[in-house]
Amino acid sequence: MCGIIGYTGKKNIAQELVVGLEKLEYRGYDSAGIAYCEHGKLVAVKAVGRISELKKLTEVSRPDSACGIGHTRWATHGRPTLVNCHPHLSYGGKFAIVHNGIIENCKQLRAFCESRGVSPVSDTDSELIAHLLELCFDGDLRRAADKVAEMLKGSFAVGVLCSCRPNEIYAFSSRSPLVIGEGKNFCALASDGNALSGVDTLVFLKDGESALLRPSGAEYYRKGKRVNPPAAPFSSASALSVKDGFAHYMLKEMYEQPEAAARTVAALSDVRLRGALTFIGCGSSYHAGLSVLPLAEHVLRKPSYACLAGEFICSERVKRRGTTAVLLSQSGETADTVAAALEAERRACRTFAIVNVPSSTLTRVCKRHAVTRAGPEIAVATTKGFTSQVIAVAAMLTRGQTADSVKRLPFAMEKALAAAETQEAEEAARLLAISPDVFFIGRKADYGVALEGALKLKEITYINALGISSGELKHGSISLISDGTPVVVVHTDPSLREKTLLTISSVRARGGFVIGITDDSDVCAASDLAVRIPHCDPFLSPAVSVLPLQSIAYRAAVLLGRDVDKPRNLAKSVTVE
Ligand code: M6R
Repeated sequence: MCGIIGYTGKKNIAQELVVGLEKLEYRGYDSAGIAYCEHGKLVAVKAVGRISELKKLTEVSRPDSACGIGHTRWATHGRPTLVNCHPHLSYGGKFAIVHNGIIENCKQLRAFCESRGVSPVSDTDSELIAHLLELCFDGDLRRAADKVAEMLKGSFAVGVLCSCRPNEIYAFSSRSPLVIGEGKNFCALASDGNALSGVDTLVFLKDGESALLRPSGAEYYRKGKRVNPPAAPFSSASALSVKDGFAHYMLKEMYEQPEAAARTVAALSDVRLRGALTFIGCGSSYHAGLSVLPLAEHVLRKPSYACLAGEFICSERVKRRGTTAVLLSQSGETADTVAAALEAERRACRTFAIVNVPSSTLTRVCKRHAVTRAGPEIAVATTKGFTSQVIAVAAMLTRGQTADSVKRLPFAMEKALAAAETQEAEEAARLLAISPDVFFIGRKADYGVALEGALKLKEITYINALGISSGELKHGSISLISDGTPVVVVHTDPSLREKTLLTISSVRARGGFVIGITDDSDVCAASDLAVRIPHCDPFLSPAVSVLPLQSIAYRAAVLLGRDVDKPRNLAKSVTVE
């Protein structure tokens, strides 16, 4: 979701900004642009579509300033067009801004601008910020920005260039991530510190803070007063990765899963999760929570729940002290999950974040946190993010024999990846690629995996897929099954064998084509096609059984010629509620 970059004190500013934007590509976007000062005038260069288009436009740009801002836009207000693309210039050309977040009172602000004779040209909420800055400007940029920040309701991270101060960037934020980096003779800002090159230290702007960036360093302010927020050293270990010869990041990341799992277990085995747990997350992170729920209840003997972050914030469910809200998020930046964490704090729950990105917002919002060791995940569709979350929770819940089984999971994952390369998996992918509708079913720990399998297929192939509990099929959805409808059955728990076999036979009786993902010989035999996975503890199986589902979805997407790493309409990091 939208990404911000900015540098002051860098030669070849246009090219530097484009490199930074490339590092933010993983967040998802549909247009991109940069702005800088040339001969005292602000210039914006923009392109719809891929950053490669912007790169072509800026290849020969050699502005006389060493300062600029850039942005990748993920459309929320208005279509992905050049006019809606950032940076936005103010009506008199004095300001250029980039913005991430959502301005909730944009209607009123638009009316305010219009009442002052300023007509916005785009459909965006962001453009208004540029006009408001110019309307409020009396020669003091900081005062104008503070005034504007006060007028804005919602979430925002904003980078500002002013034509009167061509070597300065002003930045301010509230409820949207923005990090300031300092290096030798330059200063930078970004939505994600990993996008910055050559910086030595990072400062994460807190809600209501602002920063004035000059090549010599940054000054920080809160309510008009200078402050000195703590700076963290920049770790190059978190630098973004490359494809290493794989056709796609998703494929590479799928194969990294056993190693990521081993690193995560090693790092988190001494951390403990206790009490009644409520797992909270969105998308795949919610599915990870659902998948570990049976394990949590089995080990802790306390009622536990899994809840969508977006539902948690509007439900009354958890109000008791003593509940631990476990916030699951690969990015640590998902706005719904951050809002849920704040709400959980308000309800006096203990908050515990499990994220894959160190220093992300959730680590600062929650009382405790643990970091999975999946390494940077670039593909929009998560793979190693999901399995690392499952494994992190398993490592933090188990002791003794089960903890040993957790340590052995990476080996089972290696075998499951091999199973995902078989003829059967290929056949399954071919069948799904030509099917308009696909069902994924499972129960207990397999339920979360079924939902995750359906989500993976939807995300990257655009095929309609429904994940559903096996037991629920007969309560309505079975009416959709007819000749040849593929039904992917995830089965890893021997105690459910009879139930699974009955479900399979009722699907086949209606002409459904059953694809079994299982370690069970009877379930294999009852399926039309089966991908056999290695046997493991059924409470831990989600980290293993999901692998063939990822692989089948990946292959189907490749067969259909989809943009696997950057599927349409999706953002890696969903930073709006
Ligand atoms: O970064 P998070 O784990 O908080 O992201 C949550 C979801 O947006 C994410 O899992 C999404 O569903 C993925 N695209 C799934 O592949």
